[in-house]
Amino acid sequence: MTDLESAERGVAEMLGRRDDRWYPRFHIAARAGWINDPNGLCHFNGRYHVYFQHNPYGPDWGTMHWGHVSSADLVTWRREPIAMAPELEAERDGVFSGSAVVLPDAQGTPTLAVLYTGHRWLDDGSGRARQVQCLATSTDGVAFTKHGIVIDCPEGITDFRDPKIWCTDGCWYMVVGAQTPDRRGEVWLYSCETSTVEGFTGWRFQQVLHRDPEHGVFMAECPDFFPLTAPDGRRRWVLTYCAMGARAGEDSSSADRTNLARYVVGDWAPGRPFTDVTAPRPCDQGPSYYASQSMETPDGRRLAIGWMSAVGGVDGPPEPPQAADGWCGQLTVPRELSLGDGDTLLVVPARELVGLRTRTRDLGRITLAPWQVRRLDEDVEAAEIELGIDPGSSLTLAVGLTGDGRAARIGYDSGTGRVSLELGEGFLRWAPVRPERAEQPVGAAGSAGTVNLRVLVDRGSVEVFADGRVISSTVFPSAGPRAIKLGCGPAPASLSCRIHRPASIWETPDR
Ligand code: FRU
Repeated sequence: MTDLESAERGVAEMLGRRDDRWYPRFHIAARAGWINDPNGLCHFNGRYHVYFQHNPYGPDWGTMHWGHVSSADLVTWRREPIAMAPELEAERDGVFSGSAVVLPDAQGTPTLAVLYTGHRWLDDGSGRARQVQCLATSTDGVAFTKHGIVIDCPEGITDFRDPKIWCTDGCWYMVVGAQTPDRRGEVWLYSCETSTVEGFTGWRFQQVLHRDPEHGVFMAECPDFFPLTAPDGRRRWVLTYCAMGARAGEDSSSADRTNLARYVVGDWAPGRPFTDVTAPRPCDQGPSYYASQSMETPDGRRLAIGWMSAVGGVDGPPEPPQAADGWCGQLTVPRELSLGDGDTLLVVPARELVGLRTRTRDLGRITLAPWQVRRLDEDVEAAEIELGIDPGSSLTLAVGLTGDGRAARIGYDSGTGRVSLELGEGFLRWAPVRPERAEQPVGAAGSAGTVNLRVLVDRGSVEVFADGRVISSTVFPSAGPRAIKLGCGPAPASLSCRIHRPASIWETPDR
């Protein structure tokens, strides 16, 4: 049996026992087993391809493979065979994260070139690893040929991973995360001048593109670097990466450290340094957004997908509630990125996602008297809820509300102009590495306009989109029917509301 066949068998064995109480209906997850980072996002041979870090042998982080799904329209997805298993000595302990681009081979055949990190624990008992950048190619996106190491691990470095490639002015570039010997997290830039996939082996170090300014940040995982046009028409460059060891709170003296997905906006051109015009900012205000990767769509939009980690970006075994479920980890919905005023990264669900809507209930205008609670639905596991909140109205939307009073609560406070997602005790949580409440401002307090919220509720996650900002979290509702309720405080509130039931994203059911 090949390594890939054995991996498929591992998934098939777990699939039979999969518990679907939190298994997503419209988010990408493995059929069974663990997943983390999205990898190799691309549009190739008329389809979108999403690969992902995958342990096909257990519901926890383990020897990494590349799982694979594809879609013609970002709405309906097809399960594809596992794309890569560790086979070479250099990747003995894992085929880690990486990216994909399309370029011709010497015969002119469009070829998918994948650069990824080969991971191997050192045999010296130090617990350290050797990480190298490797090349694999494919002509159909399904079966890959490996070509081995193209960038060896620099002397004195052990953490060196997650290459992201793109092309600017006919030259190929790559950002990769590195930890310096003095334990600082950096993003390094490499380049390669070639017009065919055969030349994709000649990578040269260019410069340290960015060092995270925080001293405690010891590694920059999963960097990505892409241009976006600001509202004033200026082309800026956006660097995203995951800062390991970042301070958890806004309070810079906070002792809590965690791993945060960040972005920095600045200016860059080939041969020039990256000069930032913003400080690092969170990509998402919630506790479950990590290792995102972006791609350009055929019509020129910038899409990103992240990993909704249940453990705040910290790899580890599933907590007891999910350990027996046979799966763990899911990706966010595809999101469209743009730049707003003040070089703010704006995030909305990809426009294609309206294609998932079924059984739309338009509740029209709703008026709530002070302290009134209104039940909108009795039992909904997956929903897209659109709220248009009138100026001056404050309210709370409870989703996944079970008989024991547990729920995820989305609030809008017109006094402060902030949207919040509160998990409270309501949902079984993983390691409490992050605050249980996440907030974001959505325009000026007491703002004159309608506040539009789009809340994507799946069986095991909530994503709240408001005013170009997003709060994401995995959630683990209790057993029983999951109601949706609207409530308001001492002042009356009014709004409009529509509830859609997203279709399943899978072309064929798993079982
Ligand atoms: C981020 C990460 C990457 C690595 C991969 C391994 O979550 O740690 O840096 O390539 O996951 O699964």
